[in-house]
Parts: sequence; structure tokens; C-alpha cells
Amino acid sequence: MAAITASREEKPEPTKQTPPPAPAVESAPKTITLRISRSNPSENSAAKFDEFQIPVQKWTTVLEAILHVKQNLDHSVAVRYSCRQASCGSCGMKINGRPRLACYTKVSELDSNVITVEPMSNFPIIRDLAVDFKQLFSTHKKMKPFIINEGSEVQPGAKEFIQTPNDLEKFLQFSYCIKCGLCNSACPTMATDKSFIGPQGLAQAYRYTADNRDEGKKGRLKIVDQSHGIWRCHFAGSCSNVCPKGVDPAMAIQLLRGYLLGFRK
Ligand code: SF4
Ligand code: FES
Repeated sequence: MAAITASREEKPEPTKQTPPPAPAVESAPKTITLRISRSNPSENSAAKFDEFQIPVQKWTTVLEAILHVKQNLDHSVAVRYSCRQASCGSCGMKINGRPRLACYTKVSELDSNVITVEPMSNFPIIRDLAVDFKQLFSTHKKMKPFIINEGSEVQPGAKEFIQTPNDLEKFLQFSYCIKCGLCNSACPTMATDKSFIGPQGLAQAYRYTADNRDEGKKGRLKIVDQSHGIWRCHFAGSCSNVCPKGVDPAMAIQLLRGYLLGFRK
């Protein structure tokens, strides 16, 4: 009887409740120092750095920090950009010494309170951060960056050009190039030979040569097999290290050499 009384007095176990989620804490903006290289070759003025204090959040990109300067502190900063999503290839620059896309680089990932932006090396400077792409585009065109095939006009009855996944794999990654020029900017050979075709052009020469629909291999190999061409590359590999699109120009150059040396058909 006593036992029954005791069990009636037992209190029920309190039900376990999940604690309410902690209120989201907005990360407080911090301030960084943005150092922008300023120069204007047309005025023969020596390059200098201007410094700006910029509020940033963890998602602020270097391009947004530069645009903050343009909109609020100094409208005269020259910078080229367009898509803001790593697609157009316009916003390449040296950021803390390394070629990068400004729109694809978050301030927070640089792990520094001082960000220095400079124009890309190995390109003529137009003003401040904007560089001249004339040579890159003209070299790109010289590589004949299109399918050459006399029979490429679709004939009556022909529906498609068959290409297997293996055929596609041979050149796919090289077709992701956005012509941002970061690889040329990082290339030590470009730094010493202004006429060198460069990793961007050579990678594109390989991209079209390796395409099994193309019949322009002979002509392209002739273009790259010259004194400022493919043999000037000494395989530093910096081009592939800095490419924001996963293209491996250093490998493309080796593969292209394979055609010239007879290892590849
Ligand atoms: S290969 Fe890469 S780094 Fe070079 S231009 Fe193309 S996308 Fe830019
Ligand atoms: S703005 Fe287009 S790649 Fe950066």
C-alpha cells in the first residue's frame, strides 16, 4: 500500500524541449584600408598609391570595395568591369600581389586589413587599374579560334556532327576561357618577351586543334611553332595557378607540343 502511495506522488518527467534558435547576429562591418595604384601614362605621371578606408562585410568583394571608392570618395579611379560574376573577364587586376578577378575575390578571403590593388603585369596600363587588351585579343584571333572544316556547311541529309564524350573531354576545360588575361599576367616568359604568344593564346590554339570536328591543325601548328611561340614556355605553371575558370594552359601547351613532336595525331 505504501508503495502505491509513493508512485502516485512521483512527478512526471519534464518533457525535453529544443531550445529556441539563437537570434541571428549580423556580423558587424569592419573597416579595411584599400590601397589603389594610380597612374596615367598619357600624362607621364609616376605611379602612386591612394589609400581609402572602406567598410566591408564578410561578403564584400574587392570590386565592390573599389566601387565604394568611386561612388563615395573619388570618382576618378579607373577600373574596368561588367558582369560582376566571373564571366566577362573584364576585372582582372593584381590583388595583394596576385592576379585575380576583383568581382570573384572576397575581401574576407584575403585575410588582411590592407588590400592593395594594382593593374595586371605584362599589359600596357591605360590608367589606374585599367589595362590594354589589344595584344591579347589580336593574338587570340591569330590562333584561329573557330572550327575550320571545309565540309562544315550542313549538307542536305546531314543532321549533326557526332562527337563522343571522350572527344569532348579532350578540349572541354579549355573552352571555359573567359579571356581575362590573368594567365598572361602571371607568366614569367611574357614578362621578358613582349611578343610571346602567351598561355591564353596557346591554350586556345590547343582547344581548337584538339576538337575532332576541326581540320585546321596544320595551319595552327605553323603559327605557334615560331621563335616567340610555343617553345618559349618553360613550364613555370603560374598561368594554371591563377586561372579563375579551372583552365590549365600549362597542360594545353604540353599537349600542343605533343602534336609538333609527333606524340599526338
Ligand atoms: S586561361 Fe584562364 S586565366 Fe587565362 S585568360 Fe583564360 S580564363 Fe583567364
Ligand atoms: S566583372 Fe566580369 S569577370 Fe569580373
